[in-house]
Amino acid sequence: MNPLLSRLHPYPFEQLAALLADAAPPADRPHIALSIGEPRHAPPAFVGDALLQRLDRLAVYPKAGGLPELRHACARWLERRFGLGADAVDGEAMVLPVNGTREGLFSFVQAAIDPADGGLVMMPNPFYQIYEGAALLAGAEPYYLDTRAENGFLPDLDAVPDADWGRCRILFICSPGNPTGAVMDEDYLARVLALAERHGFIVAADECYADIYLDERAPPPGLLGACLRQGNARFRRCVVFHSLSKRSSVPGLRSGFVAGDPEIMSAFRLYRTYHGCAVPEMVQLASVPAWDDDAHAAANRKLYQQKFDAVVPILGEVMPVERPSAAFYLWLQTPGDDEQFARALYAAENVTVLPGRYLSRPHGDGDPGAGRVRISLVAELDECIEAAHRIARFVSTQTRGGAGPG
Ligand SMILES: Cc1ncc(COP(=O)(O)O)c(C=O)c1O
Repeated sequence: MNPLLSRLHPYPFEQLAALLADAAPPADRPHIALSIGEPRHAPPAFVGDALLQRLDRLAVYPKAGGLPELRHACARWLERRFGLGADAVDGEAMVLPVNGTREGLFSFVQAAIDPADGGLVMMPNPFYQIYEGAALLAGAEPYYLDTRAENGFLPDLDAVPDADWGRCRILFICSPGNPTGAVMDEDYLARVLALAERHGFIVAADECYADIYLDERAPPPGLLGACLRQGNARFRRCVVFHSLSKRSSVPGLRSGFVAGDPEIMSAFRLYRTYHGCAVPEMVQLASVPAWDDDAHAAANRKLYQQKFDAVVPILGEVMPVERPSAAFYLWLQTPGDDEQFARALYAAENVTVLPGRYLSRPHGDGDPGAGRVRISLVAELDECIEAAHRIARFVSTQTRGGAGPG
């Protein structure tokens, strides 16, 4: 087997299962899982209906390039969502459907990396685990850009030596960020674009939380918009990854798309022809109305806003908590070690959260995930409130018990 497989890290949820395996949570309190970032709001009925109406497509092999009606719906959504202007995105040459961004992110790296060249794939740290796994299996070297509170949870671009930028082949950015919820503004994105031009690397922007933000007046900007404002109308060196999983609460549909530089997209399309990961046509056709309709996405977003409004003040009574700009996570500082916190919280309150270190790698001056846990506000509002009360009770007991903030 491929020896690179041995370089993969255990997936965070396997680590969490091992951590909690022999803990005995109280039986009188129902389990509340805030560990996995799986949207759990009811999927819009019209998407399910559209899927059922197109079951005749079970009889056809889908093509790697996808259906024009989906590519065009994605292009029009990008133009609306990011204010790109009519026809800024060419649905024929610049868009490809993928089976969710996870699959798209992974396969993109396999298509883009030359394994003989020893290049770097740069990524935020902590990060969505697929960036690293994809880099390792493509034969590239992962390079971690810490995202800490002192830098607004964004990579410090000035801290990277020019020689390292020179070896960079793909820079992953994630805005809104998982797990921090941080958003890159236009100035930051312009700096990323300037670096990509100077050093000749691809910018791969994971924007799958683009429609989940807390301030209705401030939708997070995206990379394609920044390209246009920098005069890069053909999105040279840039690709963006989008998904219906969060926007429409349909993680099981496995529907997303990649869009950007037509030269890169053409090579990616060739790769996908052989990889055999074309999106089933009934999924594509059910995705068209989901990209076309913004009202359900706004209603979905409102549910997350309500959860932040309710949960942040409860936790704020006992611990430092920052309301993020976007996405559906709290990246909470723990009083003491994050693994111990997650285990003890589960044992005391039957609530699962994810230790920050499972999402990060120790690097340079420490581990940016240490001393934090990720809390996904995916459960129903009542459950999130109940979980926040249990966490608050647990933290105040611990602090009174002398564990103290560490
Ligand atoms: C940052 C990030 N990117 C990509 C994904 C994958 O989402 P999907 O494959 O459902 O589009 C996730 C899912 O949790 C994520 O958090």
